Amino acid sequence: MADYALRPFRSEDLPALVKHANDPTVAANLTDTFPHPYNESDGRAFLAEAIKPVPLRRCIEMGGECIGAIGLHPKTDLWRRNLELGYWLGREHRGKGIMTAAIRQMVRIGFATFPDVTRIYASPFGSNIASQRALEKAGFTLEAKLHGTLVKNGKVEDEWIYAVRR
Ligand SMILES: CC(C)(COP(=O)(O)OP(=O)(O)OC[C@H]1O[C@@H](n2cnc3c(N)ncnc32)[C@H](O)[C@@H]1OP(=O)(O)O)[C@@H](O)C(=O)NCCC(=O)NCCS
Repeated sequence: MADYALRPFRSEDLPALVKHANDPTVAANLTDTFPHPYNESDGRAFLAEAIKPVPLRRCIEMGGECIGAIGLHPKTDLWRRNLELGYWLGREHRGKGIMTAAIRQMVRIGFATFPDVTRIYASPFGSNIASQRALEKAGFTLEAKLHGTLVKNGKVEDEWIYAVRR
């Protein structure tokens, strides 16, 4: 597997972030809050949140460049013992096991940072085989398949729910 590091974001990550995020294959697999095209002002808005000193968002760095992102989203109310995991990787770096390793590492960070959290989950589309495979390799279990719950770019999608327990 290629050498990578998970580290906090820095404002200097803006050009690399925009370069890798501005790709329809990234946005096509994420919620509609992730824009396409992804421009400098999108990157700046993300970094303004991501560089806050809480270890929830991590830059995936390789060769000194930020090539992707992984983040944990704390849930509230009845779901407060859960964290939702989200991630994406620049197209040319895929298929080398990077995200599988990053997911494993982020799960350790999540459970260590939030002692009350008992479950970390992710919800790839039914069509997102790469994400499902990375989650499985990282030790997640497929808990549910929700049929036709989502609409992405005009296409109805299933929502598959994967989780790992403390
Ligand atoms: C999903 C994503 C993060 C995976 O990152 P990655 O570093 O390439 O993942 P890994 O290399 O750790 O694992 C991917 C696995 O899926 C497999 N895979 C990828 N596409 C596949 C396909 N179409 N059919 C079958 N397997 C596939 C890979 O071969 C690999 O499995 P293997 O190691 O057993 O060969 C990356 O594809 C991505 O950023 N996609 C766009 C954004 C996205 O989907 N984010 C997740 C939203 S839930």
